[in-house]
Amino acid sequence: MMARRFQIPTTLTLAALAAVSMTAACTQLEGRVAGQTVIPPATTATAPAELPGLHNVVAYGADLYSGGAPQGAEGLDALANLGIKTVVSVDGAMPDVDYAKSRGLRYIHLPISYDGVTEERRKQYAQILYNSPRPIYMHCHHGKHRSASALGTGAVTAGLLTVAQAEERMLVSGTSPTYPRLWESLRACRPLPAAELESDLREFVSRATVTGLVEAMANIDVVFDNLKVLQKSEWSVPADHPDLVAQNESQQLHALFKDLVDDPESQKLPAHYQGQLQRAISDAAALDAAVRRKDFAEAARLFATVKKGCKTCHADYRNR
Ligand code: HEC
Repeated sequence: MMARRFQIPTTLTLAALAAVSMTAACTQLEGRVAGQTVIPPATTATAPAELPGLHNVVAYGADLYSGGAPQGAEGLDALANLGIKTVVSVDGAMPDVDYAKSRGLRYIHLPISYDGVTEERRKQYAQILYNSPRPIYMHCHHGKHRSASALGTGAVTAGLLTVAQAEERMLVSGTSPTYPRLWESLRACRPLPAAELESDLREFVSRATVTGLVEAMANIDVVFDNLKVLQKSEWSVPADHPDLVAQNESQQLHALFKDLVDDPESQKLPAHYQGQLQRAISDAAALDAAVRRKDFAEAARLFATVKKGCKTCHADYRNR
């Protein structure tokens, strides 16, 4: 049932990519999804756009967009209908490459963490922007922090934006000051000469291999978002998400944290982390139990506790 969350990472090279010729920059994008007209945001928009299956969409250039992960077929259809040619995923979740391909979208998967965009990654993002068919859509899960800094740093390195222009766009995306490394990476960017920007796009895979910990966290993030939706609907099946059942999600969250105990990368982290992981496991177990006995006041309280656990552990072990 939840197979989409657990696709095995495979490394597929985009052999055909190099053969695709550069298309002219498309300034007047407009597409239709199920009868709806989809209008992308302007580069001057001061707030992110919400499109069908696409959250937090911000234009960094006439044919360069950052936003949230496409939500199922609806999101990928919206991208295809907007004329997007290249989709770049920058987090640890596995993209739905097969469906994207059937809609004529080329996926490139090049993840970063919240601890900054290395010089190597900045160059790679710049090479993707420089060589890939446009328009290009870059996404992470929420489209606020990582996709914004990947696109911002890539665009500056490719000479498409100044640091100040990228900074302004990242603020529109909602990139948080609580990720100082992402901002530092932007300020460290320098435009590279054209010779260094040319690259063979076949070097970029459509599904990167990520570590077990990153994959588990990407899955935890999806389940946690589902729980957020359920919390708002007071733990009954939400009208706009008929697929969500509270106890499936709470059980899943507990299982995902528990599985981390056996993950070799997680095991290498210090005792203090292990304590936080044990707390996350017991909080998730308590949340699951409260959801099952339909004690929704307690579930709301425990949901907040779980959320605090994410923040605390990330402040120590992820964001620096
Ligand atoms: C016990 C510590 C701990 C807890 C609790 C924890 N995380 Fe994480 N999380 C990490 C670490 C460490 C990383 C960085 C992994 C890496 O990049 O190598 C991470 C990374 C992530 C990422 C980035 C994954 C990617 O795509 O690169 C997301 C998203 C995430 N966590 C979500 C959550 C959510 C949501 C919660 C709470 C429901 C949570 N985490 C609870 C330790 C924790």
